[in-house]
Amino acid sequence: MESGQWHVEKRSSFRSESFVKDNDIVPETGCLSIIVLGASGDLAKKKTFPALFHLYRQGFLQPDEVHIFGYARTKISDDELRNRLRGYLINEKGASPDQSEILSSFLQLVKYVSGSYDSEEGFRLLDKEISEHEISKNSQEGSSRRLFYLALPPSVYPSVCRMIKQCCMNKSDLGGWTRIVVEKPFGRDLDTAEELSTQIGELFDEPQIYRIDHYLGKELVQNLLVLRFANRFFLPLWNRDNIDNVQIVFREDFGTEGRGGYFDQYGIIRDIIQNHLLQVFYLVAMEKPVSIKPEHIRDEKVKVLQSVLPIKDEEVVLGQYEGYKDDPTVPDDSNTPTFATIVLRIHNERWEGVPFILKAGKALNSRKAEIRVQFKDVPGDIFKCKKQGRNEFVIRLQPSEAIYMKLTVKQPGLDMSTAQSELDLSYRQRYQGVTIPEAYERLILDTIRGDQQHFVRRDELKAAWEIFTPLLHRIDDGESKPLPYQPGGRGPAEADELLAKAGYVQT
Ligand code: NDP
Ligand code: BG6
Repeated sequence: MESGQWHVEKRSSFRSESFVKDNDIVPETGCLSIIVLGASGDLAKKKTFPALFHLYRQGFLQPDEVHIFGYARTKISDDELRNRLRGYLINEKGASPDQSEILSSFLQLVKYVSGSYDSEEGFRLLDKEISEHEISKNSQEGSSRRLFYLALPPSVYPSVCRMIKQCCMNKSDLGGWTRIVVEKPFGRDLDTAEELSTQIGELFDEPQIYRIDHYLGKELVQNLLVLRFANRFFLPLWNRDNIDNVQIVFREDFGTEGRGGYFDQYGIIRDIIQNHLLQVFYLVAMEKPVSIKPEHIRDEKVKVLQSVLPIKDEEVVLGQYEGYKDDPTVPDDSNTPTFATIVLRIHNERWEGVPFILKAGKALNSRKAEIRVQFKDVPGDIFKCKKQGRNEFVIRLQPSEAIYMKLTVKQPGLDMSTAQSELDLSYRQRYQGVTIPEAYERLILDTIRGDQQHFVRRDELKAAWEIFTPLLHRIDDGESKPLPYQPGGRGPAEADELLAKAGYVQT
C-alpha cells in the first residue's frame, strides 16, 4: 500500500482507444451493482472488498453509479460488515487515519443482505435492495449492470446461480447486463468440472460467466504476451532449436495454515498447478494469436493444451511436508500432496522434446513464483578456461517483479576468462513510484468492462482437466503416494533428480 493522501479521481472505466477498438468493448454507463456473495468469508474480506476499495479510491468506481452489496447467511448488520471491512483495511492493508474520509465514503456504498443460498426468500430481498438502488440512481438514462461475485465454496455455485437467474437478473429496458464471477476450484476432475459447467451453462451464456484465476491478473503474467510477441529477439529463439527446458515454479514458505480442511480435499495440483501454473504455461508456450481479442487469445491457449501429451508417472514427483497431518482438520491417513513436480511435454513443431517442468509446493524455503527459460549450450564452445554457464531468461512473477537474462560475459580484467552476469529489469528500480495493481483489482475491472481475455473459457477448463485427471485419480486411489519432505527445505530430493534428468542445469 503506498503512503500519502488518497483521493478519488474521475477515471474512465475503459481502456485506451486502440485497446477498446481491438477488443470490441463498448463503453457503458449507468447504475452498477456489485454483489459479493459469501461476504462473511475469507476471500471477500482479504481480496474482493479490498480490490473494490482500491478501484473506488482510484476513481474506477463512481459513487454516483455504484452500489456494493454483501450477501451471506451470517446475520450481521450493514454497520457490522462495514466495521469488519474498515478494521481489515486499516490493520492489514495499511489504510491510515488521514485516509479515513475516503474509506468512509466507500463503506457508505456497502450494504449487507442476509439469506440462504438455496431459497428464493433471501434472493428476492436482495433483488429488492438492488432494484431500489437502481431506481434511485437511474433517474437519468442509462443501463443497469449487475455483477455477482461468488466468493463461496463451489458446492453452492449451482444453487446460487439458479437463485440469481430466478430472482435477480437485470430487468432494465435500457440495456445493461448480469455477469457472474466464479472462483476456482472449478470442479475436482474432468467429470465434476463438466457437470458444474453444464449446470451453470444452462442458466448463463458463456459471455456472462467469468471464471477467475487471479494469476491472470498479475502484472508479469499479463506482460508475457507483450514480451513474447512484441520483441524481435525472442521470435527466432522461442522454440525447440534453442530452448532446452522451461521451469514454472511456485513456492510458498508456509503450510496450509488454517485452510487444511479445504486443502486436503484438493491438494497442490488442483490448488495451484491445474490452474495458476497452467495459465502461465499457456502464455509461454502458445502460438501468436491472430489479434489480442479475448477469443483469439483463448483459442491459442486451447490449441496448445490439446497438444500436451499424457503425463508419465516417471515424470512426476509428489511430496507431503512433515507435520501436515498434525492439522486437526486433515485426516491422519491423508494422501494429499502439498508438493508436486510434473513434466509436461507438447507434441507440436515448436516444442517437441522440450520439457516444461511445473513445480509447486507449500512449506518450502521461500515464497516465490517464477518462470525460467533455459537455453541450450552454445555449440563449438571455444572458451574452455571455465565452464560456460547456460543462458537463462527469468521472469519473476513475485515477490519483487523482475525480468532478467543470464548471460556469459568476459570477466573484467586482464585474463580472458568468462563469468555469468545479468541484464536485469527490476521493476522496483525501473518503475519507481509506479504502484502495481493487485490481481483482483484488474480482474474485477475487466469484468465490469466485459473483457474476458483474462478469464478461463469453458473449453480451456475442460482441456486443462483432461491433462491432470488421470494423475489425480491415481493419487485419490492411493496408487501414487507423496514422499515426505522437511518443511522449510526444497521439497523431496527426488524432485531435483527429476529436474536434472529433464535437462535443467543449475547456473
Ligand atoms: P470461506 O470458507 O470463507 O467461505 C465463504 C463464505 O461461504 C463463508 O463466510 C460462509 O458464509 C459461506 N460458506 C462456507 N462454507 C459453506 C458451505 N459448506 N455451504 C454454504 N456456505 C458456506 O471461503 P473463502 O472465502 O476462503 O473462499 C471462497 C471461494 O474462493 C472458494 O471457492 C475458494 O476456493 C476460493 N478461493 C479462496 C481464496 C482465499 O484466499 N481464501 C483464494 C483463491 C480462491 P455464511 O455462512 O455466512 O453464509
Ligand atoms: C490460491 C491458493 O489460489 O493462491 C492458495 O488457493 C495460494 O493456496 C494462493 O496460497 C497463492 O496466491 P499468490 O497470489 O499469493 O501467489
